[in-house]
Amino acid sequence: MRSPSRELTSRTRYGLDKPPHSGKKAVTVKKPSAIDLFSGCGGLTLGLKQAGFRVVGAVENDPLAVETYRANHGRVRVWPQDIRNLPAVEVMRKLRLRRGQLDLLAGCPPCQGFSTMTTLNGRIGQDEQNDLVFEFLRFVRVFRPKAVMLENVPKLAKNRRFKKLRSELQKLGYEVNHGILDAGDYGVPQRRRRLILLAGRNAQIPFARPARHRPSVREALRKIGPRRARTDLLHTLGEKRSEAVRTLIRLIPKDGGSRLDLGRQRQLGCHRRCDGFKDVYGRMAWDDVSPTVTGGCVNPSKGRFLHPTKNRCVTLREAALLQSFPPTYRFSLRRGKFPAAQMIGNALPPEFIRRHAKQVGKHLAFCEAQSRSRPASVHKQ
Ligand SMILES: C[S@@+](CC[C@H](N)C(=O)[O-])C[C@H]1O[C@@H](n2cnc3c(N)ncnc32)[C@H](O)[C@@H]1O
Repeated sequence: MRSPSRELTSRTRYGLDKPPHSGKKAVTVKKPSAIDLFSGCGGLTLGLKQAGFRVVGAVENDPLAVETYRANHGRVRVWPQDIRNLPAVEVMRKLRLRRGQLDLLAGCPPCQGFSTMTTLNGRIGQDEQNDLVFEFLRFVRVFRPKAVMLENVPKLAKNRRFKKLRSELQKLGYEVNHGILDAGDYGVPQRRRRLILLAGRNAQIPFARPARHRPSVREALRKIGPRRARTDLLHTLGEKRSEAVRTLIRLIPKDGGSRLDLGRQRQLGCHRRCDGFKDVYGRMAWDDVSPTVTGGCVNPSKGRFLHPTKNRCVTLREAALLQSFPPTYRFSLRRGKFPAAQMIGNALPPEFIRRHAKQVGKHLAFCEAQSRSRPASVHKQ
């Protein structure tokens, strides 16, 4: 039979429960370790930390993203370089980890090549970029982490690379669970359908249950507060638009209206000739989730990115709040507004990750309890 005290210790090791006060020496709470590949500005890392993980390493090759990441996660060791030139064993050695010791390897290889928007625009995804999925697999092979988490756009699920990734993970002994989930069902004030893959060594990891409450645009934007609204550069940076565009924006009905509400005559000439992309120059609705926040989120011609009532696009700070970043999260503006928007749009919503990472934490705690309750001879095998 499993000893309750052992189970408690392992739950504690994974940071799930605090030990009851016993008067004895406190058990050290050691958080499960994680590495974030393609770490961007750190949305995934933040979600992992919020779920109780200790993120020990990250790899990212865009200097602006690295700068942003370090400003928010200063204790994580970052490899600021192209992952293709980085031997995974070197990362393992520098982090003083042995094969099989890392708790979670997580990451989101760049996904533009697989996205629907790219396909609509007729641009074919670059094979080289899409093959970065296999860099993730290379790290799994070397580290043999206890669990794996990969996020991407839904289109990847239909790509031959994904089938290969799944089957290779299975060959390595992982039970793989993948699904296309909407972050809006998991406490994020945004519609964002994403592929998520969770894999556990010898056991499946289930997804989190959908949240009971769907936060709205109103709830998210309220988090700025009056002081930050005056002082936060991510919120106060202005926007330059032509007079024709400013007039159009003023005409779009408040709280969910779109250019289609205007009739043909009042639309821009280019829109009269085009029936597609119906959401462009649309306003968000206060009591709904927002549309998917993309790298174009501060440009009204890229989607439904107008503020519900103000005659402007959402600001960088508002976009970050819609991605479920806290209002204090820092984003570098060194390259200006649009590269910052790109980082925000590329990020994984931390709240979405937090919920699924909690499931991974429970799985790790369970496996640890199981291995501790086995006789030593079995345990050593
Ligand atoms: C989808 S974004 C990751 C978002 C991130 N996980 C987050 O939550 O903020 C993909 C990232 O991969 C980075 N990247 C692309 N190619 C890379 C490479 N060859 N080596 C390392 N990083 C790369 C991009 O700069 C980008 O920041």
